[in-house]
Amino acid sequence: MTKVAVLGAAGGIGQPLSLLLKLDKAVTDLSLFDVVNVPGVGADLSHINTDAKVSYHLKSDNNGTGLQSALQGADIVIIPAGVPRKPGMTRDDLFKINGGICADLATGIATTCPDALVLVISNPVNSTVPIFAEVFKKHGSFNANKLFGVTWLDTVRANTFIAQATASYPTSFKVKVVGGHSGDTIVPLYSVTAADAYAKLSNEEESALIHRVQFGGDEVVQAKQGAGSATLSMAYAGYRFLKTFLNAKDLEEPIVESCYISLDESVKGAKETKAYLKELTGEDIEFFAMPCKLGSNGVESIEFDLLKAANDKERQLINVCANTLTGNINKGVSFIRGN
Ligand code: NAD
Ligand code: LMR
Repeated sequence: MTKVAVLGAAGGIGQPLSLLLKLDKAVTDLSLFDVVNVPGVGADLSHINTDAKVSYHLKSDNNGTGLQSALQGADIVIIPAGVPRKPGMTRDDLFKINGGICADLATGIATTCPDALVLVISNPVNSTVPIFAEVFKKHGSFNANKLFGVTWLDTVRANTFIAQATASYPTSFKVKVVGGHSGDTIVPLYSVTAADAYAKLSNEEESALIHRVQFGGDEVVQAKQGAGSATLSMAYAGYRFLKTFLNAKDLEEPIVESCYISLDESVKGAKETKAYLKELTGEDIEFFAMPCKLGSNGVESIEFDLLKAANDKERQLINVCANTLTGNINKGVSFIRGN
């Protein structure tokens, strides 16, 4: 029995993501939440003859208790709620609107399903995940092993783009990406996780490839000409990441995937990762995307060795990432602490 709640289910990501979840046998209850349009999306999906039971909830339902109804008993909450970018905007430009949305949703989760796995898609991920962590801490429900920024689209792009650069199949790669989710905070560890293909590239090709992974989101924003950002590839990435937890019970070996998590000491491997990042960058980094062993209860351990194996160029990229990322994290934390 697994209940998955999608917050922002009527949006560009929410709709295809909800469809993928409706098709998944491991989902028994699919709970859709939004501030608008969700009855239509829910009624539509509910006609599909798969077993997942669909319910839908508007924020305004029953005197404004729609969020609580949507979250009741949820095992996994995935959150693509909030505004997307238009050309010329950075993800950080979304902070003002999306920060408030995330704080409200976090409060609902903390008070209704505090033990759920929480997967945050809403941008700017570098700052929204710290908002969730702060709200959970306020309510005494913070569990660093269960809160994730979904950075899997960076992994998807890293695999696709190296395949295009080397005329290979995208499915032959399992690149791990570390850092954050915006521009130069995104650091693909190609030398560690795709060494053979990567070694064939010239210096110029290597730099172009890394730049494309870091700014892949911009390609979609430009192409959509004001109509938003990545939705279909993100729905796929969000589903694939969530699927890791659905599958975990049936697998003997935990899956290793990159995700943006708190480097709280309660997470196995966080202490070493933090110390390494401090030595390398001089920054105390509290949240960082790392390859993690994932099980049905969240993070089992951080795969620190993959980060340690980064080459000189990747270490330089992590150095560049650190400053921006620390600022983004502080922004999210201050939003809740009010300092
Ligand atoms: P969208 O505008 O199409 O959909 C967003 C949905 O959120 C809408 O249906 C809207 O009604 C809903 N919403 C707004 N306020 C809400 C609230 N308080 N509670 C519940 N729902 C609410 O946008 P989209 O293209 O689906 O993108 C959603 C977010 O995901 C954006 O912030 C975008 O930047 C982000 N995103 C992240 C990644 C990533 O890799 N993490 C990738 C793509 C997009
Ligand atoms: C992406 O990487 O596609 C998303 O973060 C959306 C964006 O704003 O680019």
